[in-house]
Amino acid sequence: MDLESVKSEIEKVIITEEQLQTRLKEIAKQIDNDYVGKELLLIGVLKGAIMVMADLTRHMNRHVEIDWMAVSSYGSGTKSSGVVRILKDLDRDITGKNVLIIEDIVDTGLTLDWLSNNLKSRGAGSVEIMTVLRKPESAVVKVDVKYVGFDIPKDFVIGYGLDFNEKYRNLPFIAVLAKHMYE
Ligand code: PRP
Repeated sequence: MDLESVKSEIEKVIITEEQLQTRLKEIAKQIDNDYVGKELLLIGVLKGAIMVMADLTRHMNRHVEIDWMAVSSYGSGTKSSGVVRILKDLDRDITGKNVLIIEDIVDTGLTLDWLSNNLKSRGAGSVEIMTVLRKPESAVVKVDVKYVGFDIPKDFVIGYGLDFNEKYRNLPFIAVLAKHMYE
């Protein structure tokens, strides 16, 4: 979907399609270099990571395995509980595997903190994280993220996998949602 179709629903574009793809190419090259001679399993976190998984892997010049997880917070119902429930688990055992988690955004850091510990506890050989976006001002826990696309402010962002009420995931850029859409 293009900018014209959502013009009245967004405040501004903060990362263009070109900026995204240029940065993803750089990160893909870095990953290629960092994992030379090693097997690599990319684990995408549904649903936000679908776009980055599709683009990042096509910029890479090596073989990779791809698997997916879907997780959701529960308990108090807010993400700040830090308790995560697995909605869809991995298809295979990851013992000894070099795992790279692929995410669209690290916000409070609670999901990734839980997920990386969970994967380590399953006996993965190594667990690292790649995210398109990170909101440093929102961090509740410190998460060691090896590959970060862009650090952004706390605004409500949509596009490139990120949704508002399940919409806008299919925008090729990242934008700040207009306040009148949710206030
Ligand atoms: C987003 C994102 C991370 C999580 C990050 O997923 O993909 O998994 O939130 O937030 P945190 O750092 O505060 O834990 P979301 O729950 O929106 O699900 P979705 O990808 O299916 O939209």
